[in-house]
Amino acid sequence: MDLKYELITQYGGPAPRYTSYPPANHFQASEGLEQRIRAFFKSGPTDAALSVYLHVPFCSQLCYFCGCNMLVSRDPAKISRYVDSMVKEIALWRALIGRRARVSEIHFGGGTPSELPAPEMERIWEALRSAFDVQTQARVSIEVDPRHLQAESDADRFLKLGFNRISLGVQDFDAQVQKAVNRIQPREQTFNVYRWFKARGVPSINIDLIYGLPHQTRESFESTLQQVIELNPDRIALFQFAYLPNLKKHHGMIDAAAIPSPQLRLQLFNRALRKFGEQGYVYLGMDHFAKAEDALTQAARERRMGRNFQGYHEGHSPYMITVGSSSIGVLADVYFQNTKDLGVYEAQVTAGCLPVERGFVMSADDLLRRHVIERLMCDFSLDYAAVEHWGGICFADYFGHELNELEAMAADGLLVLEPGGLRVTPQGKHLIRYIAKCFDAYARAGKMSPHHMQAV
Ligand SMILES: C[S@@+](CC[C@H](N)C(=O)[O-])C[C@H]1O[C@@H](n2cnc3c(N)ncnc32)[C@H](O)[C@@H]1O
Ligand code: SF4
Repeated sequence: MDLKYELITQYGGPAPRYTSYPPANHFQASEGLEQRIRAFFKSGPTDAALSVYLHVPFCSQLCYFCGCNMLVSRDPAKISRYVDSMVKEIALWRALIGRRARVSEIHFGGGTPSELPAPEMERIWEALRSAFDVQTQARVSIEVDPRHLQAESDADRFLKLGFNRISLGVQDFDAQVQKAVNRIQPREQTFNVYRWFKARGVPSINIDLIYGLPHQTRESFESTLQQVIELNPDRIALFQFAYLPNLKKHHGMIDAAAIPSPQLRLQLFNRALRKFGEQGYVYLGMDHFAKAEDALTQAARERRMGRNFQGYHEGHSPYMITVGSSSIGVLADVYFQNTKDLGVYEAQVTAGCLPVERGFVMSADDLLRRHVIERLMCDFSLDYAAVEHWGGICFADYFGHELNELEAMAADGLLVLEPGGLRVTPQGKHLIRYIAKCFDAYARAGKMSPHHMQAV
């Protein structure tokens, strides 16, 4: 169902994407985060499997739209030094955990982890396998920039290492758009790389796209969508262009006048929604589409889908540790983020300290609201009895104020309030961040970041 423009003008102000609650702009430098992490492994669940996120910040070239924590570098010595630090950090985790913990998910993000020279990537894997018991069924994913794969043997290399989920950065197929964002990516190259992975039986391939990029038109975007459908990926992530010239200096390289208007952005989004729907893709929620038979869609159907810093997932371990600059992990009631400064990162791991710079210790109220927001963002419904059971509260008493706010949204057709819960409508699904925001105590207190995105 198309997202209506009136609702955007009414609700579409800045709102967090709720990849965490509280959102990361509330994290602070705080003493004692490392002690809390140590305490978790001393007294927490001893047999719990872990998720590991590894951040590789390097890219050989800058895309002007980029909003990621990345650094342009082709200096092999610098990259090798960084990998040394990652290897040291993995060993630090091994020592801190005190055993070879089971790992059920691994994700390499960036920057462009697929650009790491093969021996460097192998060094990281060696360290991972020595420090952790990586499960045979583990979901192992990597963000791949198709521009840098030269031959089929490159695809083999990733599969041999154990990757079984591949995400390809495409963004847009149009030549004028690609030129405007400094990312020339010939169609043939993208198609070849996709086919190399497909032919090797990768069970889930994702394609990243962005709408709202400079010079996108209805016609150009239609052609991009058509080419994505030809590729026939298992999953599609369609991100709204986060244009933040005050935060990301290189966004200034983009001609602001060439960015589609909000009306056009909405048309592009709605066109994608229809076109992917016609092809059998299920709209899972914020940015994500997947085929009906994909594991993520299955998880959504069975209400097992979760949300973390990488977006929606099939129900990962709730215990995520991280390796690499800027990465964010979570263990029980504590979020922790590594320093973004590569010099500080190297110095800290070399000194034998976790390079954690800031984080957040959640209160009981934070944990409850986090649970409610995650269920809303993933299930598009709430079962009050289940929340009461989870949090040991009376929903109507605890969330009286929130329920009043939701009534106005129900009147606008975003959700249906039922006796024992609420159900988000297809229209409300597009505005789920605004429904979730009702439960955000920090947003209520007016603590919003100017960097949160609008609805389209
Ligand atoms: C780390 S990159 C993916 C891997 C690789 N670096 C690449 O670009 O192919 C993650 C994804 O974030 C998305 N992205 C980056 N900057 C963005 C922005 N400003 N707004 C919206 N999406 C963005 C892109 O779709 C990109 O594929
Ligand atoms: S979009 Fe990907 S390749 Fe481009 S600069 Fe950002 S991280 Fe690097």
